[in-house]
Amino acid sequence: MSVDLLLNDATVVVGGREEVRSIGVKSDKIEGIYPIGQEPSANRVIDCSNLYVLPGMVDIHVHLRDLEQEAQEDYRTGTMAAAAGGVTTVLDMPNSVPPVLSRDVLDKKIANAELNRYVNVGFYAGIPKRVEDFDETLVPDILGLKVYPHAPLTEGTKYTRRRIEDCLALAKQHGLPLMFHPDSSNKNAPILTIQDHFVVHDCDSECESLKRFIDAKRRIDGRIHVCHVSCASAARLIAQSRAEDSLTAEVTPHHLLLSGDQFPNNDGVAKMLPPLRSPYDHQVLRQMLCDKCAIDCVASDHAPHTEEKKRAEFLKAASGIPGLETTVPLLLTQVFDGRLSWVDYLRVCCSVPAEIVGLSDKGVLAKGYDADIIVVSREEYRIRGDRFFSKAKITPFEGYRVLARPVMTIVGGEIVFSHGRFVIEAGRAGRVPLRKR
Ligand code: DOR
Ligand code: ZN
Ligand code: ZN
Repeated sequence: MSVDLLLNDATVVVGGREEVRSIGVKSDKIEGIYPIGQEPSANRVIDCSNLYVLPGMVDIHVHLRDLEQEAQEDYRTGTMAAAAGGVTTVLDMPNSVPPVLSRDVLDKKIANAELNRYVNVGFYAGIPKRVEDFDETLVPDILGLKVYPHAPLTEGTKYTRRRIEDCLALAKQHGLPLMFHPDSSNKNAPILTIQDHFVVHDCDSECESLKRFIDAKRRIDGRIHVCHVSCASAARLIAQSRAEDSLTAEVTPHHLLLSGDQFPNNDGVAKMLPPLRSPYDHQVLRQMLCDKCAIDCVASDHAPHTEEKKRAEFLKAASGIPGLETTVPLLLTQVFDGRLSWVDYLRVCCSVPAEIVGLSDKGVLAKGYDADIIVVSREEYRIRGDRFFSKAKITPFEGYRVLARPVMTIVGGEIVFSHGRFVIEAGRAGRVPLRKR
């Protein structure tokens, strides 16, 4: 028995401990993890001594833009950012221009992603103003439905109790999770000062929205996924309402590591929704990232905007920051700093996000899983936005010290990125659109 590719002498995590092993890849799957000296023969051998070999991150919350927003990001730059950042699977949000509410828009996104991808790309769809107008032909090509109660995808849609129930019933009918951005603020609430941004989108607004969706779930059942939990109070509410796997939640690295008062300048560098909260919130969110507590996984919420829109004064600046090239280094830094265990890292960045969206062959470094693998060097450096492959280069993590650098990225058994360079053409590696398995 021989393999196509052997990653030799790598540090891998076995039962929560670092061990030296070799990893065999055959076609697009992991063929085996071998003790040193027991490797099969291989067409190609890569020495990974002193390097970590890990499953690539499965990032279930990413905005890749494209279509009419190519100035912000497109599938080429967005998936390059993913590969360079150690993310091998991305799930693209439907709040694009135009939004994903119909077959023709999804088809365009799939076609563009297929041609330009460097990693696996999956999609979400939104829900039309009249829920009964939902196009069921979208279902096989999406992994969830996403709603934005504070900023609906169609003008005039109101997230009444009735609409939330109908959206949840629709998701349930198709066996999909209903992903939502918890925010009950009124779209037209006046935001005249910087403070207003934080007050309008405060933790009460996050919790109120969360309660409405949890209430609907009590009546309808179905599966809910809470996007970017940012408040301690919201995490506690989730913890109290947990029932098996039907209520899941994610946190972003920025809501885990940054607080609003660290960014006093009048610009949009750290402007996002939900806003950055307090160090107290970080502490609680971090505690809630444990197994079966409130928060199941980490997602980047990569939300690229043009430099002009981020450099603008706070009130005029766009909300959202890039995250694909910082999430894995930041979370692995938590591991190397002794603040997160290996078991927790692998769970929150890889295996559980894959489970949430039904990708049962991803997120684990073991025989039979997809060969979506990253090689990571343990080294200290500082994050620099001007080095990003993403078109969005303004990050609140500018200058932040990290201890892990993804040096090689393998997608579906193909090496796509190696030591700062792309070594394959776009559109060759990975699957588009991802489908449930
Ligand atoms: O800050 C944000 N940016 N929050 C969102 O919910 C949307 C996102 C975007 O698409 O830019
Ligand atoms: Zn959001
Ligand atoms: Zn988002």
